[in-house]
Formats: sequence, C-alpha cells, structure tokens
Amino acid sequence: MTNRVYNFSGGPAMLPIPVMETVQKEFLDFHGLGASIVEISHRLPVFIDIIETTKSLFRELTGLPNNYKVLFMHGGAQMQFSAVPLNLMSMKSHKGSYFITGRWGTLAENEARKYGNTEILMDGKEFEYRQIPQYDTSSLDQDSSYAHMTTNNTLYGTRWHQFPDTGNVPLVADATSDILSREMDYSQFGIVYAGLQKNLGTSGTGLVVVREDLLGHALPETPKLLDYALFDEHNSLPNTINVFAVYVMCLVLEWVKEQGGVPEMEKLAEKKSSLLYEILDNSELYSSVAHPKHRSTMNVTFHFPQEELLQKFLTESDNEGLFGLMGHAMVGGARASIYNAMPLEGVDALAQFMIEFERKNG
Ligand SMILES: Cc1ncc(COP(=O)(O)O)c(C=O)c1O
Repeated sequence: MTNRVYNFSGGPAMLPIPVMETVQKEFLDFHGLGASIVEISHRLPVFIDIIETTKSLFRELTGLPNNYKVLFMHGGAQMQFSAVPLNLMSMKSHKGSYFITGRWGTLAENEARKYGNTEILMDGKEFEYRQIPQYDTSSLDQDSSYAHMTTNNTLYGTRWHQFPDTGNVPLVADATSDILSREMDYSQFGIVYAGLQKNLGTSGTGLVVVREDLLGHALPETPKLLDYALFDEHNSLPNTINVFAVYVMCLVLEWVKEQGGVPEMEKLAEKKSSLLYEILDNSELYSSVAHPKHRSTMNVTFHFPQEELLQKFLTESDNEGLFGLMGHAMVGGARASIYNAMPLEGVDALAQFMIEFERKNG
C-alpha cells in the first residue's frame, strides 16, 4: 500500500485497511453469489445474515444487556437529534433535559425544541467547551422525559470520564465519536446512538441501542422512518436499509474483535492520545484546547500562537502524508482525530513531526 496517508480527519474517518481490502475483494462477487452485496435484495437471507451477525458482534463486544435492542436507522447521528424527542417526549412531563458540552449537544437541544419543552441542565459555553462543567444530578427533575448528553465532544476534544447518574430519567447518549473506544456499561443508559462514520464504518446511517421499555412512545406525528418501535418490529427493515453501511460495520466489528475487543481499543486509544498530550504539555509552541481533566482519547485539539504557524503546520504535515489535521472552523487550530482504525505508527509519525516542527519554529 504505497500512497496511503495517515488520515486524521474528524469523520468520515480512517477505516481499518483489512476492512477495505475485504470490501475490495468481495465487491464484484460476494461469497460466490456472482453479484455485489449492494446489488441484491436487502431481504435475502444472505443480507439478513449480515444484519444478524452485526448485531450479535456488537452485543458481544459491548456486553449489551438482553433488554436492549440494536437498530440501524437512516440519517446518521443528527437524525437522532429529532428521533430522540419524537420517540421519548411523550413520556412523563413532556420535557427533554440537555447537558450541553459542545456544538453537537447544542444542535440536539435546538432540534428537540420543535417537539416539546426542553431544559438546559448545564452549558459549557462559559468555558469555551474546553471542559465538562460540574453538575449536581440531585437537582435533576425526576419527571423529565429523558436527559441527553454527548459522551465525547469531537470539535473540542473533551469527553465525560464518568457519566452522570440520572436516576429514573433515561439517559440518552450521543456516542458518535467514541463508541467502541472505551468500555461502557450500557445499562446506565436508556439510549446510546452513534453515526457510523468514525468507529463503525461509513456515513449516513445511525446505530441506535435502545432499552425495550422506551419503545412504543412515539408522538403521533413521528415520521414512519423515525419510529423506534417500527424499526424494532421490522428488524431495521421498514424500507430499504443502507446495505453497504451495515456490511462495512460488520467487517469493522470483526476487525475490532480480532484486535482483542473494546478493552484493547481502549488501551490503544490511551497510548496514542498520551503520546500527543505529552508533547502538548511540554511544548512552548502548542497549547492544548481541552482541560487536562476532560481530555478525549479520540480527538486531540491544539492551538498555535499565530495563524501563519498553523498554516505552515498544516501544509508541511500534509506534505509528510499526515492528512486532515485542520481543526473544526468553530474551534480553530489543529485537531488530530485518532479513532480506533488509526494505527500507533500513524500517531508516532505525527508525534515526531510535531517535535521537529517545534524545534524548527518554536
Ligand atoms: C458527537 C457527534 N454527534 C453528531 C455528529 C453529526 O453526525 P452526522 O453527520 O452523522 O449527523 C457528529 C459528527 O461529527 C459528532 O461527532
């Protein structure tokens, strides 16, 4: 593989090479069918097998309790910003409560307002989202329909190290940018959802893990294709599913399992991110965006003292095959997204580049 770069993009992001090689190998003729997996009916047993394998691999890798359903839905993560209130808002006090720790949480709350009342439990805006603010969960209204959080804040490079205990209020987590990168006890959550484009495969489809008792509460105006109960009833096939996305996710999960599962992914993520944070902590040039107590192991964000140095950094790193390091427009600076598929060698190469860049420009 000669001209592949190390791809630090925020998402869609790097996929494991063996996954892409399998896709390439199987694309014209899937397992002797004489047709591609994207050319056959999503209702044929050969595809149903893929859905079932994907769900059971996910259950196995996460230790998902039996009373949770695994759904595949259209529209990626942001579609869930609408689906969550549409499916849960009818419960209890018709109010969605939001922990705002970054841009995605803000957008989720804005969307929910269209379907009912919302309440902001805390907002990290005053800290420029560089940290997760303290919140005393004892003040949470136990009559809320649900409480929504973002486990990892992709733009700012922060994450919750410990999830809030919301008591009887179902906790809903957008885990798009750290799913399968750390061990999580799913029984703490009512719903966990994620767009597939970072640690699970390709964009445009969402994984939704939902506790059984939260099915069947959709508001009457809920569009058919956003109703969790309907997706559950039809095994995620109320219409034509994104066959390719599920197929790739299946291969990604097989790869994660071969690597040693989520515990190994977590160790690797700690190792990769520590390499970069150590450089930031010892640097006179780079400054870390995220507060050390709330740093992400998936997105490492840093600023430069001058815009020209940032531009120089981006151009030179790109020339070295270190691709996609520009920070999000709302945060500026640089961001190294180091999801599960980023090998340690890629982070090592970036670390060496950063040290050398500081030596020359610091
Ligand atoms: C935490 C989080 N939530 C939501 C989204 C939006 O995902 P999508 O483009 O699949 O709607 C992203 C995308 O980067 C994200 O990181």
